[in-house]
Amino acid sequence: MRETVLLIGGGGREHAIARALEDSEADLYACAGNRNPGIARIAVGFETLETTDPDAVVDYATEIDATIAVIGPEAPLEAGVADALEAAGVYPFGPKEADARIETDKAFQRRFMQENDVPGCPDFETFDDMDAACAFIDDYDGDLAIKPAGLTGGKGVKVIGDQVTAEEGKAYVRDADYDRIVLEERLIGEEFTIQAFVANGEFRTAPAVQDHKRAYEGDEGPNTGGMGSYSDATDDLPFMTESDYEDAVSIIEATVDALDDYRGILYGQFMLTETGPRVVEFNARFGDPEAMNTLPVLETDFLEILTAARDGDAPPELEFAEQATVCKYAVPEGYPTDPEAGAKVQVDEESAGDALLYYASVDERDDGIYTTTSRSFALVGVADSIDEAEAIAADALAVAGEDGLRVRHDIGTADLIQRRIDHMSELRDN
Ligand code: AMP
Ligand code: GLY
Repeated sequence: MRETVLLIGGGGREHAIARALEDSEADLYACAGNRNPGIARIAVGFETLETTDPDAVVDYATEIDATIAVIGPEAPLEAGVADALEAAGVYPFGPKEADARIETDKAFQRRFMQENDVPGCPDFETFDDMDAACAFIDDYDGDLAIKPAGLTGGKGVKVIGDQVTAEEGKAYVRDADYDRIVLEERLIGEEFTIQAFVANGEFRTAPAVQDHKRAYEGDEGPNTGGMGSYSDATDDLPFMTESDYEDAVSIIEATVDALDDYRGILYGQFMLTETGPRVVEFNARFGDPEAMNTLPVLETDFLEILTAARDGDAPPELEFAEQATVCKYAVPEGYPTDPEAGAKVQVDEESAGDALLYYASVDERDDGIYTTTSRSFALVGVADSIDEAEAIAADALAVAGEDGLRVRHDIGTADLIQRRIDHMSELRDN
């Protein structure tokens, strides 16, 4: 039977998912709040709709007779879109609302780890009372990460001793108007991501990726959804050992075991500390940008993973090309604090050369492509080494056009990677 797949979401991650399904035995349809030109070109149908409205998504899924749905972003998961699709007879590859709490509720996430003895959990406390939280900050011996419990697009966390002082942290807690926050031990080390394909109690992992959260070069400035990322030709990254990768995979294994029938992508964000990997957070979906590192090197047909999940089977063993990837995002000026939406994006696709171009949160209109308040497009180099992949992405950005947009040119460069390696060896020597 030929499948009809509905892809939900209009970012760079979803453009990567669309590409991964492009040559599969499936008719691909897509829906998103913005008209992503890259996805619209691949899909046989594209509908602009509110993806956090389960009824709107189900209506479209029913209209096209979807057999499988792939939910890209976290917001529709939180809104119960997977539950609604399943109730309507469409198999959703993405967790139900209750399972997505592993991402959408950080207080739940930490308690879940604690109650199930999942290794790698930092010490934490949750607070509904912000005065009590401030008192805890005053009394705590060491630095804390301040985390709103709910979704903030990766932009809500403030780390004392890194981004803010304790006084600024307390002001943030008092002024930001969150209902609940988590205060947790500040983890020190290098971050990396492992994404796992999970279905029917089993999982398969992809090579590790390192994202760059901070807005500006040299890891300065506010947190963003991620400015770019790289992966190596091996499962691990230059600052890690194979056994660090394996340790992180065992944390994912313990998590999958503790979850009841989770399905979709489980994204583990780890801090490699001097004592090994600890969990920064879990997400209930592919990372964005990390999907753009992982899916281009996935040699297994993504549709085969989806149908196995739907049919009650374990995910197939995954094959990845042994190639490195570097992804660099072009974002609107002012992103993330004061992004300039509605600016015309001039991107010359022909000039992308050997790089893969992924459109993200841009909107295609009759007279061109326009920025929204989020990331605009990404260029990804794929090559035998990180260095070569970096050069491909950098060359493509220079010619494909980054006018009026901002890029972190340092992502994937030999200098920055050496700093990661030095940082890790410094910590481990201590
Ligand atoms: P999250 O939204 O939980 O991914 O947090 C965003 C970013 O804040 C992470 O990628 C880290 O850079 C940082 N962060 C979160 N939790 C901690 C922690 N416990 N210690 C140090 N940094 C953290
Ligand atoms: N790149 C981080 C995320 O997708 O949450």
